[in-house]
Amino acid sequence: MSRRTWIRILIGLAIALAALLLVRLHNAGGATPEQDGVSAGRRLAEAWCRECHAFELSDGSGRAPDLVRIANRTSTTELSLKVFLRTNHRSMPNLIIAPDQADILAQFILSLKQDR
Ligand code: HEC
Repeated sequence: MSRRTWIRILIGLAIALAALLLVRLHNAGGATPEQDGVSAGRRLAEAWCRECHAFELSDGSGRAPDLVRIANRTSTTELSLKVFLRTNHRSMPNLIIAPDQADILAQFILSLKQDR
């Protein structure tokens, strides 16, 4: 092979390596889908739930249990939250919550759970 061909091959390899490196850096710095769900869920909860539910521990005098208190219950799981959010419950105005919205709301609520 001529020298020119070799140089082309080397340049091609270098470009491929640089591209690979860029992709890896991007993934390392970017948020995981899990974190994306949690922050999207927080935004939804701020808009829809916070008027009744405090996110953090309060004195419990609010209209509804604090979300962190709900998260801390041993009976609270992603499934139990989704089921709850998909069924109407009497004290909550009938919020229409789509399945993917219930997913991220549940992820957000569980992210509040404290180790005890
Ligand atoms: C108008 C007030 C109000 C709003 C808005 C509201 N809730 Fe509630 N929620 C309540 C009350 C009151 C309770 C406790 C009584 C009950 O379970 O019916 C409750 C209970 C809950 C529970 C606990 C159920 C259990 O197992 O005890 C969860 C989880 C919950 N809400 C999630 C949410 C989420 C998520 C949102 C926003 C999408 C929301 N709520 C919006 C009033 C509200």
